[in-house]
Amino acid sequence: MMSFFFDSSLNCFFNAMLREWSGWKYRPAQPQADTDHQQGSLYPSGWFDISAAEGVLSVPCRQYFSTGRHQLLAPCLLTDNDGEVHTLQFEQAMEWAMLNSSVAADLPATTVIEFISRVRDSNRNLKHAIEFRGDELDALFQSPLNFSQAETALFTGHSIHPCPKARDNFSEQDTLAYAPEYNGKFALQWYLVRKDRLYLKESEGHAYNELVQDLLKSDKHMQYWAAQLGENQALFPCHPFQHQVWQSTPRIRDMIEEGSLVYLGQGSQHWSATSSVRAIYSSQAPWMLKYSLTVKLTNSIRHLQPAELVRGAELFRVLNTSKAREYVDRFPCFNILMEPTAAALCGEDGSLYEESIVLWRQNPFIERFDRNTEVLATLLQDDPRTGTSRLEQRLRLLPQSYQEVAVEWFQQYLEVAVKPLLVGQADYGLLFGAHQQNIVLTLNDLGYPVKMYFRDCQGTGYTHLAHELYGHEIADMAKDSGNVIEDEVAIQLFSYYLIVNATFNVISSLCGDGALEESLLIRHLGEFLVAVKEDGINDHQCIDYLLQSPELTAKCNFYLALRKTNENTNSDYLATYHQMPNPLLIWSQGKSVSEVDLHRNSEISESVTP
Ligand SMILES: Nc1ncnc2c1ncn2[C@@H]1O[C@H](COP(=O)(O)OP(=O)(O)OP(=O)(O)O)[C@@H](O)[C@H]1O
Ligand SMILES: [Mg+2]
Repeated sequence: MMSFFFDSSLNCFFNAMLREWSGWKYRPAQPQADTDHQQGSLYPSGWFDISAAEGVLSVPCRQYFSTGRHQLLAPCLLTDNDGEVHTLQFEQAMEWAMLNSSVAADLPATTVIEFISRVRDSNRNLKHAIEFRGDELDALFQSPLNFSQAETALFTGHSIHPCPKARDNFSEQDTLAYAPEYNGKFALQWYLVRKDRLYLKESEGHAYNELVQDLLKSDKHMQYWAAQLGENQALFPCHPFQHQVWQSTPRIRDMIEEGSLVYLGQGSQHWSATSSVRAIYSSQAPWMLKYSLTVKLTNSIRHLQPAELVRGAELFRVLNTSKAREYVDRFPCFNILMEPTAAALCGEDGSLYEESIVLWRQNPFIERFDRNTEVLATLLQDDPRTGTSRLEQRLRLLPQSYQEVAVEWFQQYLEVAVKPLLVGQADYGLLFGAHQQNIVLTLNDLGYPVKMYFRDCQGTGYTHLAHELYGHEIADMAKDSGNVIEDEVAIQLFSYYLIVNATFNVISSLCGDGALEESLLIRHLGEFLVAVKEDGINDHQCIDYLLQSPELTAKCNFYLALRKTNENTNSDYLATYHQMPNPLLIWSQGKSVSEVDLHRNSEISESVTP
C-alpha cells in the first residue's frame, strides 16, 4: 500500500495555486479506500486532479477545507496517457504542473523557469532550517514559547505562498546570521550622520535623539561614541546586512566619502530577527527596530516606502484623540505596538533614501514580560513531521476532549483578537491589516488567548468614518501616507487579512486531521459576526460583506510570485487580489450545518473553483 506523508512546501505551493487558478477538479477518494485508513493516519480523502495533454497529476488531499487551506499530502501521482501511474515528489510534481498545465500558459518560458527555481530555493531553505532545528521540534510544537522563541520558529513562513522561504539576495552566511529560523544573534552597526542628511518623522514625546539614547543605555560603547558626536551630527543605527548593502550603494558611498556619514563601529547589544526578518528584537531594549532590507521575501523587496514611513506617526496622532482613546480603553486586552518615530538618510534636496529607513516600534516583550507570547503564524504552523498544527498539539495536552477545548479556544480567539479589530473598523474607522504574522497573542497557562498585540503600522488605513472622527489629525498626513482608500476596497482588504488570512487559517489549523468539523467553526464565526452587529455598531459594511458576499477577496500570492510583481510598488489592485468562494455565505443563508457538509460535498468537483 502506498504510504503518504506531510510535506510543508507542497502544502504552501499547491494551496496557493489551487486557490488562484481554476483548472483543477476535485475527486473524492473511492469509499473502499477509507477502510484501509485508521484514525490519525495520513491518507487522502480526495484528490485534486490537474489535467494536461501529457496526463493527469493528482495531488492527494487529506482534508478539504472550504476556508481555503486544504491539508495536502505527498507524494503526488501522475497518470500518463498510457494509463501508467508514476509517483512524483514535491519538486517533480510542482515542475510538472508548471510546465504542462495551463497555469502559466500565457507567460514566457524564462519566467516560468525562474519561478520554478525560486520555488526550489524556498523548499531547500525550508528543509535546511527544519534540519538545523531538528532536535528542538518537539519543544517548538508542544511547549510554551516566549516572544522571541516563537518569532524564530516560523520555518514554513506563509502557509499559502508558492515560495514562502525564497530569500533572493541573502548569501548562505547572511541566512545563518539574519534569517530568524537560525536563531542567530547580531549587533547593530552604528554611524554618525550629519543632521542635514538625516530625514526624521518624529511623534510628540518621542524625539529621535531620545530613542537613540534608549538603545544605547545598555551599550558599553555609548560613552565613547557620545564623546565624538559633533553639534551637527546624530547617531544612526544600521542593520548589519544593510551595512553591507550600503558599502555598494553609490549615493551612500558618496556620503561616506564626503564625510556626511561616518562609520563608528559595532554595538555591544545582541539583537535577533523577528518573523518578518526586517524587524529585529532585543530582550534588553524598549524598542524593536524595523528596517528597509534589500532582500526579496515573498512578494517584495523589503524596502520600507516613504509613504509607509509616516504611518506609525499618523496612527500615533490618531490614537491620541479622545475618540480613539475611548477605543483603546474599551478593549484592555488589545494593544498596538506603536511606531512613533522613523528616520532615514536623505539627499541634499531632502529626498529620502529608501534603502536606509529605520523605524522604532514599542517593545513590551522585554525580559520576563515575553512569556507565553507568540505570533499567531507560529501557533498555527503545521508540524513538518506530521501536519498537525502547534495549536492542535498544545490543546491535545489538556485533559478535556479535544473537540471541547478547540471550540472554546476558537471562541476565546474571536473575543480577544477578532472583536477589537472588527470594532476598530466599525466604530472608529481604523483598519488594521491583521494577518497571521501581524497578530501576537499572550496565552494563559492552559494556552488560551488572553491578550492580543497588533504590529505593523505600515499595514494600517482609514475608512470614511475615520475622516469624520479624526479628519483634522489625518488630513495633512493622508496625502503622504497613501492609506486612505475607498471604503469598498478597504473593507475587502481588511477582511482578507483578519478573516481569510488569520481566522480561516485558525479554523484549518484546529480541524487539520478531521477531528473537528470545519462547518462547526464556520457556524461559530458566523454567529459571532451576527452578535457583534446586533450589539450595535456604527458601520456594518464589513460584517455584511463577510456574511453576504458570494465571494471574498484574497491575495494572489501565487501569481504575484510567478509574475515577479514587486508588491511594494505595484498599484494594480486586480493583479494583486482574486476572489474565492465565501464559506460564510452558506451558513448565513440559513442552511444548517448538517444540510451542507462542506468538505464532503459531492458537488465540490463541479462547483468550487478557487
Ligand atoms: N500568513 C501570513 N500572512 C502574511 N505574511 C506571512 C504569513 N506567514 C508568514 N508571513 C511572513 O511574514 C512577513 C509578512 O510581511 P509583512 O509585510 O506583514 O511584515 P513586515 O512589514 O515585513 O514586518 P513586520 O510584521 O515586522 O512589521 C513576510 O515575510 C511573510 O512571508
Ligand atoms: Mg507584518
